[in-house]
Amino acid sequence: MSIPFITAEEAASYIKNGDNVGFSGFTASGTPKVVTVALAKRARELHEKGEPFKINLFTGASTNDHVDGELARADAIGIRTPYQSHPDARKLCNKGGMHYFDTHLSHVSQDLRYGFYGDIDVAVIEVTEMSPNGEFILGAGLGMTPTLAQMAKKVIIEYSSYYRTSFRGFHDNYVPLDPPHRREIPIYKPSDRIGSTVIKIDPAKIIGIVPSNASESIKPFTAADEITERIGANVCHFLAQQLRDGKMPKEFLPIQSGVGNVANAVLYGLGENPEIPQFEMYTEVIQDAVMTLMEEGKCKFASTCALTFSDDAMVRFMDNIDFFRDKILMRPGEISNSPEVVRRLGLIAMNTALEADIYGNVNSTHVLGSKMMNGIGGSADFCRNAYLSIFSCPSIQKDGKISAIVPMVSHVDHSEHSVKVLVTEQGVADLRGKDPRQRAETIIENCAHPMYREILWDYVKLASKNGGHTPHDLSACFALHRALMERGDMLQADFALCEK
Ligand code: COA
Repeated sequence: MSIPFITAEEAASYIKNGDNVGFSGFTASGTPKVVTVALAKRARELHEKGEPFKINLFTGASTNDHVDGELARADAIGIRTPYQSHPDARKLCNKGGMHYFDTHLSHVSQDLRYGFYGDIDVAVIEVTEMSPNGEFILGAGLGMTPTLAQMAKKVIIEYSSYYRTSFRGFHDNYVPLDPPHRREIPIYKPSDRIGSTVIKIDPAKIIGIVPSNASESIKPFTAADEITERIGANVCHFLAQQLRDGKMPKEFLPIQSGVGNVANAVLYGLGENPEIPQFEMYTEVIQDAVMTLMEEGKCKFASTCALTFSDDAMVRFMDNIDFFRDKILMRPGEISNSPEVVRRLGLIAMNTALEADIYGNVNSTHVLGSKMMNGIGGSADFCRNAYLSIFSCPSIQKDGKISAIVPMVSHVDHSEHSVKVLVTEQGVADLRGKDPRQRAETIIENCAHPMYREILWDYVKLASKNGGHTPHDLSACFALHRALMERGDMLQADFALCEK
């Protein structure tokens, strides 16, 4: 059966108002880039005629401007999950213009297979190679593509010619059986391959193939500033001390690292630290820093869901692709983030907080408890199950008007039971084996900015009057947040006002 080449506009015309649409990829990597632009155009045209048009958008993680940006600006998103980080999608979400629900990245594929969100009417899948018998090689990110390929009633293929070298062999496509038949995921070290290099899609359900030659358009991260460098250095010194203290195997353990500048600073710091041995990664994204660490021989292997390389780094990767062939495997998000595998491998998980409280609860998603930033991403998949779970952030934001250490977080993503270590540029709070009062002391003294330490101690004294295992004063615990909302500065917090 031959599959026709069609235009992006033709492809978009097959997607109907209210359809559940799944997209390949993870971050911008491997995510469709042309059908969605045509879809947004179609949505605008229909809206102008007074006709409704919104799709329910299921992705591996965040996407790119071509997906979240275009569709949010066209007001074409009904339901959205699991993670978004595009400013226009964030805006739509925070004004209630789309039904965004934030869920763990490792859950989405299986929740779809369990039927929790209905059928996938159409999947749009970016591929880099294809054969007439329905075998495809994916691109720079997997996300939940293998599940979409199985489940979708109809499939649109975006055939990317951007990659001038073959990605064959980098993917490990695998879909676990669902309960009650699920078995263990047989990964015992990051480099274990368990699945197939290709995905198979029934040609009968493929609507057509849309050519594309767009790059991922990922910008390089800005150079680390003094604060992120200090956070990175604190994490590295802490890990080196763990090795010296025998609290970590001398071979070291695989690393999971979130995205962003802090993550990059930590990775570069690990690379430069002579006490840290060569290491492997079991993570959901690898950024430019990992490529450099591989070239330098410090990072031996990375299991990931996506190559989130900047466009320049991607060109470097393609130029040296054979060097990386035995050093990288890309897996679906439910495998790269599998809690079972994370626990078995004993990962060092490093993620980022917006704020943390004096008892060790972490908020990674909601500004002032209500405004969605991005979403939980894979952070909880890793954090809850890691050998060592580290959260980091700068101790202050906005020239000190915001303290990242607060009496009580305004939203909880990672509870005190899962967060083992907190790091800011001020220092490291090792929370293991400490009761809540001891945690408060360590966090205030080691992580809070000096300008906020007295306020936080004042809160502890006030709350301690009420006694309890985790002392709190429920009328004063959000005094810093209220001061920010009402007076624009957490330093203006006044506990006396709260008691009235
Ligand atoms: N209150 C209010 N605003 C805050 C804040 C707080 N406690 N902490 C940070 N901000 C603001 C910053 O000032 C900045 O504002 P700006 O955009 O106006 O400059 C913005 O939030 C982003 O802060 P920044 O420190 O640059 O954050 P980041 O880019 O390092 O991202 C997270 C931090 C937490 C939002 C991001 O890591 C995330 O989405 N994490 C959740 C998902 C995750 O962990 N994924 C990886 C798993 S593998």
